[in-house]
Amino acid sequence: MPTKISLLALSAMLLLLSAAAYADISNGKNLYQSRCAICHGAQANGSGPLAAKSSPPTPDLTTAAFKKRLTDYPGVIVSSIILRPNGDLIPKTLRDNGIKLAPHHWTVQDLRDVNDYMRSIIGK
Ligand code: HEC
Repeated sequence: MPTKISLLALSAMLLLLSAAAYADISNGKNLYQSRCAICHGAQANGSGPLAAKSSPPTPDLTTAAFKKRLTDYPGVIVSSIILRPNGDLIPKTLRDNGIKLAPHHWTVQDLRDVNDYMRSIIGK
């Protein structure tokens, strides 16, 4: 666990340090649309085909409450990818519904790109 937490801290730091750097929106968009939208929906409003099948149901992330979380805890998107606070929730929902995603080795750039892409759709 300490390793995971320092990885998170490191990623959050890199993310902040490079906030001004060019963000590859297409990479973030691809990763989000292929690995997250199935539950979260293309617009992150909790409208994906498996949204109602996860337990708890996949939340709408375009709410004022979540936007406030994003501002208060800028690493929240990255942390939900790395730390998997809900343990087996995502793999289990995918398994139960017969969806197979190829394993993905997340790079810091990927995390940054998904973060930027999600913030861009949630901010609208
Ligand atoms: C199997 C469905 C599923 C998939 C796939 C999925 N999520 Fe989620 N996600 C959820 C559910 C359900 C919650 C709410 C968990 C809760 O309330 O405890 C959630 C919560 C979140 C949150 C909010 C965390 C918070 O602290 O409020 C973020 C950000 C998030 N997911 C990002 C992602 C990203 C990025 C991906 C793709 C890499 C992804 N999710 C893939 C189901 C999914």
